[in-house]
Amino acid sequence: MEILVKRLNTMSGGKVLDVATGRGNFIKILQDGLKDYEKIIGIDNIDASILEKVSENFTDKRVNFIQMDACKMDFENDSFDIVCLSNSLHHLSDIQVVLEEIQRVLKPEGTIIINEMICDNQTSSQMTYVLMHHWWAKIDRAMGKLHFETFSKQQVLDIVHDLNLREVEVLEFNDPDDPMDQASLKGISKIIDEYIERAKPLQNFENFRQEGESIRKHLYEVGVNGATQVIVIGKK
Ligand SMILES: C[S@@+](CC[C@H](N)C(=O)[O-])C[C@H]1O[C@@H](n2cnc3c(N)ncnc32)[C@H](O)[C@@H]1O
Repeated sequence: MEILVKRLNTMSGGKVLDVATGRGNFIKILQDGLKDYEKIIGIDNIDASILEKVSENFTDKRVNFIQMDACKMDFENDSFDIVCLSNSLHHLSDIQVVLEEIQRVLKPEGTIIINEMICDNQTSSQMTYVLMHHWWAKIDRAMGKLHFETFSKQQVLDIVHDLNLREVEVLEFNDPDDPMDQASLKGISKIIDEYIERAKPLQNFENFRQEGESIRKHLYEVGVNGATQVIVIGKK
């Protein structure tokens, strides 16, 4: 994410909110990149116990995690200088409601950063990742968890367009790693095993297993790279 870190180097964070923060991966990027910040809050609706574990990986007292629904945030209007949403658009039940909430809690002149992996115009090694991600999403949905297929670049831009942002910048990041790196192949293959195991109780397990095996074949034929990340930065 060098391109984003470089861009963040020019920004003072002030009060920062990371919506749907998950394990806080994007907060690490913000910490690496931002010139400075007053505080960073990560919100997610996962179990409070998971968020507590996540927070143990952050020693900086200015970083805090709160269990909260992004559709109904417990913050005053105009509270944050920067609001981020990373790799979560395809996990939301109601994107419009979350975007309205993001607009509401962002200060006038505040900055929105949306980072999202995309599924189109990918190399064959990136397609391994996309196919795998869509397979995970299918298994997650069959288990009752919100997880949809990832969007194309144009779909992400169309979604963000509704925010009516000013001074919009669109950046792209491509994973530069060796697609045939043996440790990565082994790591992904292990994740495929884990997902096959997870799918075992499902009715159409055999279909899920076969799809997993065909993705593993693709993995060892062409390798793997992370999908392209589209990053949209704009002002309220
Ligand atoms: C892929 S993960 C997070 C990724 C993380 N932001 C990153 O960049 O690594 C997507 C997250 O969205 C969260 N999520 C989905 N719907 C949500 C909602 N309504 N409110 C808060 N979090 C939500 C999920 O719990 C999950 O942790």
